Amino acid sequence: MKSLSAGLALLCGALAALAAAGEQQPEQDISFEYHRYEELRKALVSVWLQCQSISRIYTIGQSFEGRELLVLELSGNPGGHEAGEPEFKYIANMHGNEAVGRELVIFLARHLCNEYQRGNQTIIDLIHSTRIHLMPSMNPDGFEKAASQPGDLKDWFVGRSNAQGIDLNRNFPDLDRIVYVNEKEGGANNHLLKNMKKAVDQNTKLAPETKSVIHWLMDIPFVLSANLHGGDIVANYPYDETRSGSVHEYSASPDDATFKSLARAYSSYNPVMSNPHRAPCRKNDDDSSFDEGITNGGAWYSVPGGMQDFNYLSSNCFEITLELSCDKFPAEDTLKMYWDQNKDSLINYIEQVHRGVKGFVRDLQGNPISNASISVEGIDHDITSAKDGDYWRLLAPGNYKVSASAPGYLTVIKKVAVPSSPAARVDFELESLVERKEEEKEELMDWWKMMSETLNF
Ligand SMILES: *[C@@H]1O[C@H](CO)[C@@H](O)[C@H](O)[C@H]1NC(C)=O
Ligand SMILES: *[C@@H]1O[C@H](CO)[C@@H](O)[C@H](O)[C@H]1NC(C)=O
Ligand SMILES: [Zn+2]
Repeated sequence: MKSLSAGLALLCGALAALAAAGEQQPEQDISFEYHRYEELRKALVSVWLQCQSISRIYTIGQSFEGRELLVLELSGNPGGHEAGEPEFKYIANMHGNEAVGRELVIFLARHLCNEYQRGNQTIIDLIHSTRIHLMPSMNPDGFEKAASQPGDLKDWFVGRSNAQGIDLNRNFPDLDRIVYVNEKEGGANNHLLKNMKKAVDQNTKLAPETKSVIHWLMDIPFVLSANLHGGDIVANYPYDETRSGSVHEYSASPDDATFKSLARAYSSYNPVMSNPHRAPCRKNDDDSSFDEGITNGGAWYSVPGGMQDFNYLSSNCFEITLELSCDKFPAEDTLKMYWDQNKDSLINYIEQVHRGVKGFVRDLQGNPISNASISVEGIDHDITSAKDGDYWRLLAPGNYKVSASAPGYLTVIKKVAVPSSPAARVDFELESLVERKEEEKEELMDWWKMMSETLNF
């Protein structure tokens, strides 16, 4: 009896909690202030409570000091990948003292939830057609250190690294070096981490924050991403690391045209970033490579081991790096201004996930073919299909020849006219080589039968 009543009490408690959770919380205005770790957690929970049907909170792991690397997911059907629906992410505050991006991602979560509830059709469509992952802080330990400094003026470096002193944006496996060799000698042009996953887990030089992001990237078929920084104002696109190793050198990736167009999709909606007459952040800054508020990473300065290039070379995900403020940790009363400058850019950039070519790869019986290669003639960077055979190939507008191939199947090539938006839908049906052999055998038999009848054997 005792255990039964205890069980009932537990159940009642759980039901009461469920009922309370089911109640939608009233809309809250964005509060333009800095959020320390606990406040960040509460801010995400309050968005989730207000928008439970379209959101979920999860963690991808813990920082060195044990803080959760929290993510708020927004989707019409949160909790998992939906066939055909592209996945998007924002990662902010990987440099713990670069605080503006962290706050903008929190404000964005609140804003998307509010607009969804107000019935803003643009936002409703965006959330229903996209799985959006928002990570306000990849380096919560660094942020706490930076924020703990007394006074309004924060040091330029304190809190940049994680708690082990590792700069997370120099800590990713350097796949650029591999692809630069492969460009010359032949070799894979995508998913370069493929046979090194175990090595990643055993590598003691990788920070826990870095490892968590690598696993996240391997688990979810992300299509597009940005990582948010501070210290300058520009949208920076791959490659970040130069081919020759020199400090400044334009380092085009095979997707240079697409990346430029993605970076412009951000900068052009930010009136400060795109202003050609904007004064440099500091007198001696070298921003000679900035044009229309965008820059190639290597042309600005070489970054080995960065997260942006790692996304592109280890997964299907295209990532750019956004520098959002001259000051890394500006006074709290400027946060509303940064939100106003970046709000439209942040939303417009998410919408870029719906550009290029997308569709499904299936066999002739309609079964999905995952891990098929999608190649574009003239662009030496393939992407692969996800679990349901679904794929997204971001491309700048233009005419392309796109092919789908998989081991054991005949490759199919299609001509595609890609508009600026939305993505062109192109499905591929691949015939298996086994089927093809059987067909050929049958054809041969038919031919033999016909011949024998004609010749009257
Ligand atoms: C809905 O959201 C979009 C994107 O942020 C914005 O441009 C538009 O003004 C909003 N519509 C209304 C009616 O507020
Ligand atoms: C995906 O396909 C590539 C190339 O065909 C192959 O090398 C790789 O092992 C495959 N990966 C998986 C997880 O099946
Ligand atoms: Zn940074």
